[in-house]
Amino acid sequence: MHPRCPIVVIDSGLGGLTVAAAIRRALPAEDLLYFGDTARVPYGSKSPQTVLSFVRQIVSLVRGWSPKHIVLACNTATAVALEPIAEEFESVSLSGVVEPGAQAAASAAGENPRPNIGVIATEATIRSKAYERAILRRLPHARLVCRATPLLVPLIEEGRGEDDPVVKLALRQYLEPMLADGLDVLVLGCTHYPIYRRLIEAAAGEGVAVIDSAQQCAEDVARLLRVAGLCRSRRQRGGFWSLVTDSAPRFAQIAARFLGGPIEPPVHVPLEDLYAAETRRPLRLRSAG
Ligand code: DGL
Repeated sequence: MHPRCPIVVIDSGLGGLTVAAAIRRALPAEDLLYFGDTARVPYGSKSPQTVLSFVRQIVSLVRGWSPKHIVLACNTATAVALEPIAEEFESVSLSGVVEPGAQAAASAAGENPRPNIGVIATEATIRSKAYERAILRRLPHARLVCRATPLLVPLIEEGRGEDDPVVKLALRQYLEPMLADGLDVLVLGCTHYPIYRRLIEAAAGEGVAVIDSAQQCAEDVARLLRVAGLCRSRRQRGGFWSLVTDSAPRFAQIAARFLGGPIEPPVHVPLEDLYAAETRRPLRLRSAG
C-alpha cells in the first residue's frame, strides 16, 4: 500500500457525504472515491443478509482500486456487515461509523455517569443493537432510548429540505416521545440525518447534545493513516470522485453543497458490474472441521 492510494467512502446513497466532507476537512491532501449505492437505497429497511451481500459486492469492486482505507460511511452497513466483511477481506483496511458515533456520544455525556442517551437510526441499525452495545461498553450506566426513524432516509434521498412540512411532521412524531424522556445526548445514528441537523437541534433544545459520527470517524481515519505512515504529504488538495449505481442528478448537487464546491459528474456503475466483481472474487475455502 502506498500514500498515493485513495480512501474509499461507501454508503447506500448520499448520507455518507457527511462523512466524506469530514474526511476531506481532516485530510485535505487525500484523494477520495465515494461510492453511493443509489439504485438500492435504502438499506435500512432490508434484511441483514441482503445488506451484507450488497456491501460484499461493493467491497469486492472497490478493492480493485487499491484503496489504502475503506470507510463504511453507513451505520446500517457497519452494524450488520463490518465484522463479517473485515473477516472475509482480511487484507483490506476497513472501518465503520458506529464505534466513532458511540465514542462521540460518550464524550458528549462528559462526567455524567448515568446519562439519558437517545439514538435514532434505520430499522436495521436499531434491530442490530450495535449502538446499544457500543455505548454501554463505554457508559455501562447510561439509559438508552433507541428509535427507528425509517421515513427520514427516503425523504432525504428525495431531496426534501428542512422547510418541507412532511419532514417537520415526521421529525416531530419521531422525536417528541423521545424528548419527553429528558435526553442529555441524541445520537444521529444514520449518516443521512445530519442533513436535517438544524431542525433536529431546534426540536431537541439547548440542553441536548446532538451528535453524529462524521467528525470522530474522520479523526479516527486520520490517526490510523498517520500511524501506518500512509498520509499524503503533498500541498495541493486531493481529488474527489463519486460513483453511483443509479443516475442521480440530485447527487451531484447535494455533494457540491456538502463538499463546498462543484464535483466531477458522478460515474454510473451498473449493478451487473457489482455482481460480476463479487463473482470474480477468489473463493475462500474454509476447512469443514
Ligand atoms: N446512511 C445510512 C446509514 O447510516 C443508510 C440509510 C439507508 O440506506 O437506509 O444507516
